[in-house]
Order: sequence, then structure tokens, then C-alpha cells
Amino acid sequence: MRMPLVAGNWKMNTTLNEAIALVKKMRPGLDQIEGVEKVICPPFISLAPIKELLKGSSIKLGAQNMYFEEKGAYTGEISPLMLAELCQFVIVGHSERRHYFKETGEIIEKKVKAALKFGLKPILCIGETLEENEAGKTEEVLAKQLSSAGINYAGGLVLAYEPVWAIGTGRAASSRQANETIAFIRQFVSKQSGKETAQGVRILYGGSVTADNIAEFINQPEIDGALVGGASIKADEFISIVKQASDIKRVR
Ligand code: PGA
Repeated sequence: MRMPLVAGNWKMNTTLNEAIALVKKMRPGLDQIEGVEKVICPPFISLAPIKELLKGSSIKLGAQNMYFEEKGAYTGEISPLMLAELCQFVIVGHSERRHYFKETGEIIEKKVKAALKFGLKPILCIGETLEENEAGKTEEVLAKQLSSAGINYAGGLVLAYEPVWAIGTGRAASSRQANETIAFIRQFVSKQSGKETAQGVRILYGGSVTADNIAEFINQPEIDGALVGGASIKADEFISIVKQASDIKRVR
């Protein structure tokens, strides 16, 4: 049985003081919820103080991005070696990185491999644009994003299916549609890495997830959790999302 996972992607929101206040507000509620892995991904500069704040908590930490080299002359970048001291997860290949920062499949593949090498669990985001969706190219696009040779799906990697048109738009995919696409993704992983591995890989849905629609997604058999953006920086709403995920899919 796959342990459900709900991750909050705070994106470029919260100053250090705001991040600390938000964690203090979320922690008691989140700590009471069992059977779901809970991950928050604040901005880089807040990771170290939040790690201290989360001592003894069941909430796990993730970064939103990283570079693939271990160290060196890469001004402004953060390495997997640095992150490995601070967090357990790292979001890789988010559509905002692909589109605004021109990250290619090749770069993303290097990041996934580097994360795994340093013991970080990558949350690899994949998803089609509206144009690709309307042209019926969803599966083709996802297959291309996934086909980077050598990705080790057995190493703790998490996938997040995030249709680009659903991110931050308030227009979530339908839960049935998301379930079908995630079933396709699992089949694809199965072809690459075998059935057993594919059955163990957690695949999340992301894109305009809220406390009002999480239950629909979590009720789908293929969907193992959610990657939440906007609703993850509202303490009460994020707690409600995690609580509903636990009530529906909790691993006991
Ligand atoms: P959203 O973002 O929940 O605000 O749509 C999701 C994401 O980008 O991971």
C-alpha cells in the first residue's frame, strides 16, 4: 500500500518571519494527523530555521528547486549536498521552472539523478499545457517528459501530475480525468521499470487543489495525494486538505 502524501509548494511567498509564523500556526493541527506524509516546501532561506522549528514534528521539509552540481562556481545556486542537511524532499521540474526559467528535460533529468544521489526524494512534476491538452497530446507530452533514460523510480521518487492549465488558475482538472491520466503515467512507469516498481511509486495530482475539491481527488484509486500551491499557505485550509486526505486514504 502506498503512503499518501500531501505537499505544500509555497512558491515565492513568505518572508522568513512570515514563514516562521505560518509553520507555528500549522504545526499543531498537522501533527495530529496520521497515516499521510506531510511535506512543506518553503523558500530556500527559510529551510534552516524551519528545520529547527520542526524538531520532534512529523512534518517533513522539501525544497522547491536545486541545481544538479554538488558544489562550485555556480553563483546563486543551491546544491543537493546543501539541501541534504536540511530536507528530505525537493520539487524538480515544476512547470514554472520549465516555462519561466527554461529548464529542459535534460536539466531536469540531471536534477532528479543528483537529488537521488544525495538521498533527497525528488517530487518530479510533469504536465501538459492547455494547447497540448486541446490538441489531444497529453499522453505524448507526458511520455516525453518521463522518458528521460535512467530515472530510478525505485529510489523514492514521487511524481506529480500537474496540468499546466490547472496551476494557479482555479480551474482544476476533473478528478476522473486526473485519475485516468495518472493511470496512464503508472502504466508508463511499469513499462520502463516493471509492474512492482510502478505499483510502489506515489503519483500526486496538482493544480488548483483546495479544501473544497481534495476529497474528489483523494477518492480516486490512482491518486496518492496532492501537490498544493496557493492553498498551502493558508494554515487552516492546508490542515483541512491533509485531514481529508488522511480520513479517506490513511495508511493504518
Ligand atoms: P496551485 O499550484 O495549487 O496554486 O494551482 C500547484 C503547484 O504549482 O504545485
